[in-house]
Formats: sequence, C-alpha cells, structure tokens
Amino acid sequence: MDSTENLTALLAMAQPGLYDDPFRSAHYLEMLWPHAVSRVTLQKALRKALQPREGVYIGIAFGAAAWQRFQPSFTPVQLQPFPRLEGKNGYAMPSTQSDIWFWIHGNDQGDVMDAVLQVHAAVRDVLIAQLDLNGFKNREERDLTGFVDGTANPKELQRVAAAQIPLGEAGAGGSYVLTQKWSHHLHTFNKLSEYEQEQVIGRTKHDNIELEGDDMPPTSHVSRTDVTVDGVGQKIWRRSTPYGNAEDHGLYFIAFACNLKRIRIQLDRMLGNTDDGYSDHLMRYSTAETGAYWFMPAEADLEAILTR
Ligand code: HEM
Repeated sequence: MDSTENLTALLAMAQPGLYDDPFRSAHYLEMLWPHAVSRVTLQKALRKALQPREGVYIGIAFGAAAWQRFQPSFTPVQLQPFPRLEGKNGYAMPSTQSDIWFWIHGNDQGDVMDAVLQVHAAVRDVLIAQLDLNGFKNREERDLTGFVDGTANPKELQRVAAAQIPLGEAGAGGSYVLTQKWSHHLHTFNKLSEYEQEQVIGRTKHDNIELEGDDMPPTSHVSRTDVTVDGVGQKIWRRSTPYGNAEDHGLYFIAFACNLKRIRIQLDRMLGNTDDGYSDHLMRYSTAETGAYWFMPAEADLEAILTR
C-alpha cells in the first residue's frame, strides 16, 4: 500500500524536474552509444553533460541495453526495449529504441538551448543522435489539435504513485518511461467539425469537459486510455509537449510510470488489441514515428552509475 510517508520518500528520490510545471520550452535527444565507446569514457562525458544549470532541468534515462552496459547493481524487472506494436485495424507503432534519452526543459527557450549545447558539447564525440527535437508549451496547455492535454494527469502525491517505482522494488524511486514522436495530420483533422473532433478525443474542445454516457464513443482517445484493472486506475504521469515546424509537427509523447504494464495496456487499447477490438480514432489523424522505453533512475542511483 502506498502510504503518504512512502510516497513522500519516493518524491524526494526523483531526478529534479520530474514534476515541476509549468515549463514553456523543452528539447529531446535520443542517442546511440556505439560499442566502441567504453563505459568509463561515457561516464566522464555524462558527468559533464549533466552539470546543473540555472532555470533548466537536464533529466536522463537509459534504454535496457545501455543500462546493462553500466553494470548496475540492479535492473528494474520490467525494463525492456520497446517492441514494434501492431494493431487489429492496420495501425502500428514502430520501435526506434536507442540508448540514452536527455529530457531538457525549462521556462526560457534561450536557457534550454544553452543547456542543449552543454549536453551536446560533452557527448558529441561519444554518442550519436537519433532524435534531436524541440518542444514547447502552447497556450492553455493545448496540443496542436487545439485540445487541452494533461487534464486527467494525477495530482499531488498521486503523481508519485503513478510515476515512480515503489519502495522495495528494484529501481525504487526511478520511473519507466515511454517516448513517442506522434506526427499529426492536421489538414485532415481540421476538416472535421468541432463535434467530430470532440468524438475523437473524448472531451469538449473549448471548455475541456469530459464527454459522458452515450456521448462518449468507445473509440475516443479518453475511452482507450482511461483504464481500470482490478479496481486500480492505470494512471501514468504525462509530460508531453507539441513539437515541430511547418511541415512536420505533432506531439512528443512522454509518460512516466511505476509499472511498464500500465503503459502497454493503454497502447494495446489504442491499437485495438482488446476483446472489444476498438482502436483509438486519434490514430486516424496522428502517426507514431518513434517509440522507446527508458529507465529514468532515481537521483542517487544515477550518481552511483556515473561515479562507480
Ligand atoms: C497523438 C498523440 C496524443 C495526443 C494528441 C494526445 C492527446 C490527449 C488529450 C487531448 C487528452 C485529454 C486531456 C487529458 O486528460 O490530458 C489525452 C488524455 C490521455 N492520454 Fe493522450 N494523447 C496522445 C497519445 C497518448 C498515448 C500514446 C497515451 C498512452 C500511452 C496517452 C495516454 C493518455 C491518458 C492516460 C489520458 C487521460 C485519460 C483519462 O484518464 O481521462 N495519450 N491525451
């Protein structure tokens, strides 16, 4: 059972920035660690990359293979590479798993860019960038479809219960993470009436109110992701932001979870891999272009693998 005491202890263990909101600007780096680069060389580079900076958080997480290469004293039991997922209705989510994820975020875009340059200068000779993406907060926390994103995120200590591996488990205080770059097809989505768009998301657009009863289609995004298993709401902690430019734009989805199964259940429900067979109509208007699972260790565990 998650007592207030346990959750407060977990909260203190997290890498800084896991919960701090609002932030207006973000940058995401997904990087490969070539086999020729030794653990000691990477440790040295990462210590430089992660030097604290005023007003910006530099979070870091590791793919399953990279975590093993650090020869840690423990491995979270569910840590695994993201598998390519296929759904019943022709939808798929690709795997683009790499080794190291940097989550750089703060309020000021200039400060964030300075931190990106610090990280890049430290790792440019040892890691290869697979994804190098800006992110930003939109007015009223709306994503580029115009809907408010993040409303049903858990609050206060419920965030900790949702996002961090519980005390007593391997990796306690850390998080399982999913990142996916979703590219939007706004030219199609924006041709829908507001009513039709609301049926896709499961909330009203202007006032951000959840649809109820018969008004809520089983194919809406909220219906597919609001899940209870054995009486337990499968809550996750989302920190996604819009990203993009004129040609390529969408949502860089980020979720932290105490348990990887929670995330997988939601993805399978979106894909229609369920008894009801419904897929998420949001996938008609958005395509997952990347997919990776990460382990974001607690602050002390990060310190340990970077200095041992
Ligand atoms: C194109 C990508 C996505 C977009 C644009 C999007 C957008 C939204 C929006 C607008 C909401 C309603 C407001 C809110 O409660 O935040 C929402 C809810 C939610 N989304 Fe997504 N989302 C995307 C992908 C995902 C994925 C991949 C997952 C799961 C792995 C997910 C999980 C959730 C959850 C858990 C909720 C809250 C459901 C509830 O309890 O009401 N979303 N999303």
